[in-house]
Formats: sequence, structure tokens, C-alpha cells
Amino acid sequence: MKRISALLLAAACAVPACSSDPGDNGMGSGSGSNNGSGSGDEWDQQLSARELDYNAALRIAALRLTGALPTMAEINEIATAPDDAGKKTAYEARIAEYMGRPTFSTQMFLFWRDTFKMGETAMLDTAPAFAARLSVNNGSYMDMFTAGSDNCPTFDMGTGTFTSAECTNGGPKAGLLTNPGIQAHYFGNLAFRRSRFYQETFVCTKFPAEISATPTDVGGAAPYTGVWPFDSIASPTNGGGRINFQDTSAVICANCHSTLNHLTPLFAYYDDQGVYKQAISVPTPLDGAPLAKMSDYLPDGQQTAWRQGVPATDLPALGTAMAADPAVAECGVARMWNWAMGKTDIVDTLQEVPHETIAAQIDAFTASGYKMKDLIYGVFTADDFVKFSKAPGAPGTGTN
Ligand code: HEC
Repeated sequence: MKRISALLLAAACAVPACSSDPGDNGMGSGSGSNNGSGSGDEWDQQLSARELDYNAALRIAALRLTGALPTMAEINEIATAPDDAGKKTAYEARIAEYMGRPTFSTQMFLFWRDTFKMGETAMLDTAPAFAARLSVNNGSYMDMFTAGSDNCPTFDMGTGTFTSAECTNGGPKAGLLTNPGIQAHYFGNLAFRRSRFYQETFVCTKFPAEISATPTDVGGAAPYTGVWPFDSIASPTNGGGRINFQDTSAVICANCHSTLNHLTPLFAYYDDQGVYKQAISVPTPLDGAPLAKMSDYLPDGQQTAWRQGVPATDLPALGTAMAADPAVAECGVARMWNWAMGKTDIVDTLQEVPHETIAAQIDAFTASGYKMKDLIYGVFTADDFVKFSKAPGAPGTGTN
């Protein structure tokens, strides 16, 4: 099996989901990138020809969940089990045991640093620590958007322990939506970068976030594809905004900015240090970089919102809306799936996971109340994770 060399490379990689890690169970996204010239039928045949290999799965799981290869004793307890049922029992018990180790906490912390693309200062590490603690304690994924206290914990990599702490940046408290590190790290003109972070990290797609099935002609070269009324966002001729979000001369800004402009004012009260202020505290790209005003985003009468038809007057309301959005739950599963399968970032590298591939995981996740440790255990014990293709040229045998 050529996968061995991929595993050795993976072992050299400090961050579990780092992009140089080619360890790939072959199933993964099934997005077609490693599908060769196989037709759909051929692909299905190759999938059903996969064979259980708990020892191969253990090597990958140990690297991801503990940061180290399995010991000889751990390998042998599976290798010497008499049959598949025995191997399955031994494998699943070992996965559960791995997930109780302090090194699992560290792996989770590194995973979330990687996912959030931030860390290594005290403030920037609070968000990865928060998400890692949920993963380790089997908390609800949706606490990322709704938790009302203890939102800036610290993590000690030496001992693998978390310490509770409140965020001290003022303002409302809604999980990571109010995290000072995220607000500071993704500071920028009009706070759009912050919206982009929350969209890409927690919905797994880029803007535009909302696309209408019935595009409308707004006088540009291309039609407007947003779902909001075209006149629901600001421009110099619509509510006195100083930036022309209704411009249609080159691109249709409103395709993205209809959603962005309804969402982003919620994040605009944090300054460059991530401190919540009473007034909007992000600049515009205008001469002299004056601070943005609500009228730059929206004309009078418009409300802030997560999506069209889902208004959110403040960040806790936004958190409630995001926690209720099935796309957010699906993205959480897809990111864990891709990490287990050795894929690179789902948004940056378009490693999308077809809904059908993870439908069972999404259902279990939703039914469990979005329990994170249960999700991770479910992914690392899924059929797709413990089965491998043995036929030459089949998916998963690796061509690199
Ligand atoms: C494909 C989606 C999309 C389209 C179309 C789009 N934007 Fe944006 N815009 C974004 C995103 C996402 C960001 C945040 C980017 C970041 O900072 O990472 C952004 C950021 C901005 C910013 C703040 C950053 C800066 O450069 O100052 C301004 C101003 C802006 N857009 C104006 C416009 C205007 C005007 C148009 C039309 C001419 C437009 N955008 C078209 C998605 C879009």
C-alpha cells in the first residue's frame, strides 16, 4: 500500500490538518479530484470493493487524535483479534481511549488554530481554546455561537488542560461571535473581513451566501442574483451611503453585499483591538479613512440579519440564528470529516464533501444536540474511515 509513505509525511507535520498532509483515506470528499477517468459506475464498484483494515485506520487515527503513531501493543491488540468483529471492538475502544488523553486536547487545539487561521498570542488563542474545550468535553458545537459566559478560556499545551476565563472586551457575549481575538485578527474596512471569516469557517462557502433561483435585471451586464431586494442596501443614491454597493458597471456588488451589508454592522462595533465600543469602530476605504456609519451599509428601515427572512438585532440573536441553520451544522461535520480524511481546507481548496457522503453523520450530530466529541468518534469509526481500497488504481491507493 502506497499510503504508508503518506503517513510518514503526515507524522512529520505538527499541525494535524496542515496542508502538506497527503494522508487520504481515498473516500473523503469524493469530489472527483482523485477520481481519475472512472465513470460513476466504476467509482461505485471501487467503493463497494473497499475492505476493512482496522490497523491502517488506527495509524491514521492515532496521528490525528494523539499526534503520534500507535504503539506496537496497540497495533497488536487489533492485529491479533480473531475476526472483524473483534478487531472492530478493539479499534473502537482504542479510539475512545485516545480521545481521553491530554494529547487529544492538544490535537484539538492545533486543529482549531489551523481552522480559524489564528493563534500563538494569548488573545488569539482564546478562540481555538474555546472550540477545543467543546471538542474535548463533548459540548454542543452551537455553543460556538450562543455561549453566554466563560468564552475566553486558556489552554496549557504542556499539561493539556483548559482554564476558564471571561472575555474582557466588553459588549454582548455570544460564544465566538464576540471573541476579541477574532474581531482583532479579522479587523478591516467596514468589518467585512469578519463576516467573511464567520461565513467561510462556519458555513464552509464563500460569499455570495444567498443566491436567488430567479436573477433580476438591474441594468448591468449581468443580472443581480441576490435574494434581498436590490434597493435594500446602501449607495450614494439610496440612503446616502458613501460607497456604491448598487454599482453594476463592472461586477454586481449586491450579489455578495446584499447579505454582507445586512450582517456586518453587527461586527462593526469592535475596534482594531477587538474591544466593543458604543459606536461603529471600523474605517472605510474613503479618503482619510473615516469611520463607517450605519448608512454606509443599509438605507433607513432595513434591519441587520443573518439571512433574508432571519433578522438579528444583536450578536446573541445572530448566534441563535446561526445555531438553527442546518448549513452551519453540516459545515461542522464536513470540517471534521475532511480533517479525519486528510483533506485540505474545505473553502480554500474547494475540498467539498457531498451531502450524501456525510448525511448519516449530520443526522447523528443533529440528534445528539451537536455533541462534538461524539461527532469526532463517529467520524473516526465510520465505515468510510476504516475501509480501504486494495485494488491497484482504485481510490485511496494513492498516486502521489
Ligand atoms: C463575490 C462577492 C463580492 C462582490 C461581488 C463584491 N464584494 Fe466587496 N467584499 C466581499 C468580501 C467577502 C469582502 C471582505 C474581504 C476580506 O476582507 O477578506 C469584501 C470587502 C469589501 C470592502 C472592504 C474592503 C476594502 O477593500 O476596502 C469594500 C469597500 C467592498 N467590498 C466594496 C465592494 C464594491 C463597491 C463592490 C462592487 C464594485 C464589491 N465590493 C463587490 C465580497 C464581494
